[in-house]
Amino acid sequence: MSSTALKTIYLKEYTQPPFVIDRVKLHFELGEEQTVVTTTMTMRRDGGGDGALRLDGRHLQLLLVKLDGRVLMAKQYEVDEESLTIPMVPDSFVLEIQTLIKPQENTSLDGLYKSSGNFCTQCEAQGFRKITYYLDRPDVMTLFTTTIVADKAKYPVLLSNGNLVAQSELGDGRHSATWQDPFKKPCYLFALVAGQLEFVEDSFTTMSGRQVALRIYVERHNLDKCDHAMQSLKRAMRWDEQVYGREYDLDIYMIVAVDDFNMGAMENKGLNVFNSKYVLARPDTATDADFIGIESVIAHEYFHNWSGNRVTCRDWFQLSLKEGFTVFRDQEFTSDLFSRAVKRIDDVNRLRSYQFAEDGGPMSHPVRPESYVEINNFYTLTVYEKGAEVVRMISHLVGAAGFRKGSDLYFERHDGQAVTTEDFVQAMEDANGIDLTQFKRWYGQSGTPRLDCSSAYDAAAQRLTLTIRQSCPPTPGQATKLPFHIPVEIGLLAPDGADCPLQLAGEAAAMGTSRVLECKDEVQSFQFINIAHPPVPSLLRQFSAPVKLNYPYSSEELAFLMAHDSDPFNRWNANQQLALLLLHGLIEQKINGGTFDLQALGNGYSLYSEAFGQILAEQGGDLNLKAMAMALPTENYIAETLAVVDPIAIHEARWLLRGALSRDHEALLCENYENHLEQGRYNVKPESVGRRAVKNTALGLLASHDGSGIIELCYSQFNSADNMTDVMMALRCLTDIQCDERQQALAQFYDKWQGEPLIVDKWLALQAMSRLPTTLADIKTLMNHPAFNIKNPNKVRALISSFVNGNAYRFHSAEGYTFLADQIVILDRLNPQVAARLAAPLIQWRRYDEARQLLMCAELKRILALPTLSSDVREVVSKGLA
Ligand code: BES
Ligand code: ZN
Repeated sequence: MSSTALKTIYLKEYTQPPFVIDRVKLHFELGEEQTVVTTTMTMRRDGGGDGALRLDGRHLQLLLVKLDGRVLMAKQYEVDEESLTIPMVPDSFVLEIQTLIKPQENTSLDGLYKSSGNFCTQCEAQGFRKITYYLDRPDVMTLFTTTIVADKAKYPVLLSNGNLVAQSELGDGRHSATWQDPFKKPCYLFALVAGQLEFVEDSFTTMSGRQVALRIYVERHNLDKCDHAMQSLKRAMRWDEQVYGREYDLDIYMIVAVDDFNMGAMENKGLNVFNSKYVLARPDTATDADFIGIESVIAHEYFHNWSGNRVTCRDWFQLSLKEGFTVFRDQEFTSDLFSRAVKRIDDVNRLRSYQFAEDGGPMSHPVRPESYVEINNFYTLTVYEKGAEVVRMISHLVGAAGFRKGSDLYFERHDGQAVTTEDFVQAMEDANGIDLTQFKRWYGQSGTPRLDCSSAYDAAAQRLTLTIRQSCPPTPGQATKLPFHIPVEIGLLAPDGADCPLQLAGEAAAMGTSRVLECKDEVQSFQFINIAHPPVPSLLRQFSAPVKLNYPYSSEELAFLMAHDSDPFNRWNANQQLALLLLHGLIEQKINGGTFDLQALGNGYSLYSEAFGQILAEQGGDLNLKAMAMALPTENYIAETLAVVDPIAIHEARWLLRGALSRDHEALLCENYENHLEQGRYNVKPESVGRRAVKNTALGLLASHDGSGIIELCYSQFNSADNMTDVMMALRCLTDIQCDERQQALAQFYDKWQGEPLIVDKWLALQAMSRLPTTLADIKTLMNHPAFNIKNPNKVRALISSFVNGNAYRFHSAEGYTFLADQIVILDRLNPQVAARLAAPLIQWRRYDEARQLLMCAELKRILALPTLSSDVREVVSKGLA
């Protein structure tokens, strides 16, 4: 698209499709220069009307149109950049269309394209229209039959959705395969794969006793890295049966791993296509985080078979219907299989570090957006993570059993349909006999609500009054908001640290020691009676709502919660808040032109340091939680808590605090390192992962002050470790220190792993995230290294995204901003989706000081002034400047 005006699509303009497609037959002739697609659709009008038939299509060369067997002449239809229109069609008819496309030249990785010599497709959200003319919208559901014809030597494997129903040799070196999908689906779930692939196979017996063949297709040299993905798939299939009563519905489930992919993975019916990053793992090639990530992405895409495929979205404004719900489902899966508290902390960290920023910035939008220009720009943290939080709040309100009743009703009522978030909430209401009218504001109002809480204790009446005031800042297009329905789970801690029984005034007896308060008004007070001593409130346990909570805790109270709160999430959160108090103090010292002085912060540091020592001294318990308790708030979360963000001050304050803790607890840290060294064979059970997490967190802390022998220790772990988790942590520490070992380790690592693209990505990312002053210069050098390729999104994420999103300290400079804008400009022509995502840090300019604001805006304006710019980047950048 050139500099023409952007076309905005509105939810309120939704209308039903005027035509139905009962069946579609697709025929692909895959060639080295070009691919010819023949589409035969059996169609009829729906809902009266006699209007024209308009089909979506982009970058297609139209070869032929046949209506009921008769070739149409050019004057009988109209073709433009976006569509094919046939003004006159009967009420029911067969339409045949032939198009020519060039997958070899498709660098957008959307539609049909090539990756490592193989053909593959990505059709969500609107890639199908780059393959053929079609009603490319999710509420048009059709039965698909797909025939693929290709050279047999080059493309021995030919795959599509559903069941293989025919295969043949064509004599001229080509062969063909025909696949039939027995379930109706929207075209965004279509997939085709053709190439030189091999597979590992397993099988799963469903709860009703059907055998399902499971296959993971990869390049031959990766066959030994599929076991974890396969085991994960089987665990996900079993979990969905046990927890949701959902059974798989086809006889075969295929996963294909590709190296070039815009996203993580895609849930195409019966034929998932995955970024190889979320399939391939072996102990020596993948970290614990990679193993856990693979398990959750495999589960996520599998869960879509019900939440997304069997029941799909009416339109793309409903995206969170499938994504928010499915993220909630995959989060619960990981909680059940790994550790609930650890998973919750991880998810809240991501929400507070990134989604809160999005929700407070110029692209802020509701979980169900009202409008969009480019739908690909709305696969956001808000739709995904906040969307999952909204589903989680419903589960808090109705309880586990009520939630299951609601999901059963939802799946039963809407199987085979394309529906809305309203339909989802309606099922929850009907199954539980409740009214969620006010709750639904979570879908329509954007912005992160803020809760200001206070408490007053009346000793004579033995009563605690807790007052909660809610507000929500203005966001683009929404100056004022109505109150939300917010579930706030709380407890009250007695002076001995025990949970008080909770009895509200008017209740006959106490009900539990942790309860969900439902806040619906702007200000609400809750009176707890029979409270013998002034308690410390534990608020928003389990992070029961995606809000910013304020309560005037003293450092002492936070230290008390850290030690005693029965809710593990809130123990960890108290730790974070106490550290934040210190960090805010340090940052203020720095900004006021002073130097850091921990002692000037009163008893804050000694309180924190003492609590930190207790954490280190703790034996037993969940080691993963312990490792998390050893970590300071992320730089991005610290930034989120400041009115004006100074990334340099944030980094230096955090680094100073780390250094101080590390010096003051050196002996205990060494002990923790030694005591958690590997025992026995590597595995990814929570206990082993926890041991490594504690050990490596200790190593990281030790490496943040120049204690004697730390370089040698890191280098020795780097050389002797038998698993990628330990190798990476050692290398990460070295990457932050200017020393010979750094250069040696980096060179050795590349030497050993240069043939493994995913491991080369780790090597690039580590260097991009280094705190050394040479980082940006190093990145510019690496852009010319054979290891880098700007056409491959994994490389872009490893080298560029890691830098701009994960290294604020080195990114936030005039050179950093110019570098990023340059890359966006280059990528815009190759892959607009990836380019648009890269702009996220620049459009956050309002959070910074005036000098940075000017620099960032200048880069945004430079991008916007380009004569040709994709609608993807144009939408983000123009909203960013508005
Ligand atoms: N349906 C998406 C993948 C997708 C989104 C493809 C947008 C093309 C455009 C898939 O189910 C998904 O959500 N994948 C996530 C990973 C998941 C674990 C949250 C992804 O790819 O990031
Ligand atoms: Zn998804």
